[in-house]
Amino acid sequence: MEIIIQPTAEEASRLAARVVANKIKAKPSATLGLPTGRTPLVLYRELIRLHKEEGLDFSSCSTFNLDEYVGLAPDNKNSYNFYMRDSFFKYVNIDLKNTHCPDGMTDDIVATCQAYEDAIEESGGIDLQVLGIGSEGHIGFNEPTSSLASRTRIKTLTAKTVQDNTAFFGSVDAVPKHVITMGIGTIMQAKEVILLAFGRQKASVVAKTIEGPVTAMVPASVLQHHPHVKFFIDEEAAAELKLKPYYTTVFNNKPKWQQF
Ligand code: GLP
Repeated sequence: MEIIIQPTAEEASRLAARVVANKIKAKPSATLGLPTGRTPLVLYRELIRLHKEEGLDFSSCSTFNLDEYVGLAPDNKNSYNFYMRDSFFKYVNIDLKNTHCPDGMTDDIVATCQAYEDAIEESGGIDLQVLGIGSEGHIGFNEPTSSLASRTRIKTLTAKTVQDNTAFFGSVDAVPKHVITMGIGTIMQAKEVILLAFGRQKASVVAKTIEGPVTAMVPASVLQHHPHVKFFIDEEAAAELKLKPYYTTVFNNKPKWQQF
């Protein structure tokens, strides 16, 4: 695991964007796994800048989003389908036909989830999975006690996640309680993973994820088993890490060939 601590979310996002850009340059047909939420917005902004100013080319890329609310259509402003088009896709030269997000309006959830898994496999698997993290350690919408081997499926949100997302919907009652999410097993199959976490409110869950035991109670902790994972965190989110000085030393002394 590589723990990259930067003074601000802005700087951490810029470094993370470089990892994404390098992947696309090395493999123009890369398959990216993408998150939503507040955390990746600066990363998306930076990728848009790299596209506009440096010609970063998304035309051959495919993307798979982590999750979607059940019952929200793609034109609903709170759907993750909408979020992706509105925050990222419409500003870069990605072919929308190559972008995928679970269908929250499906009337056959089981078949839709299986088709999503099949489509990921047909694309050759996810080359680089980008993640945020929920306040109780969820990745995608894999809430605590999700099977660490789970695949794409329906999940019920915890009261805490519903509360965390209430600001977008106006009231607790308006937040959908069911979602479709890639499973933890699906995420773990990605060849490379980067996780972004910013702000003091993420410090406790970041410490549990990186330095705590691997447990389904903190789903992100399973990343300790991933062979190629990088955490991009700001100072505030790093506040409870016991080995923080070590991570900083490692990063500051990376051999040149390992820098990005
Ligand atoms: C939602 C998403 C997650 C995201 C999390 C954190 O639950 N399904 O993918 O990581 O929110 O959101 P934020 O980045 O807004 O803190």
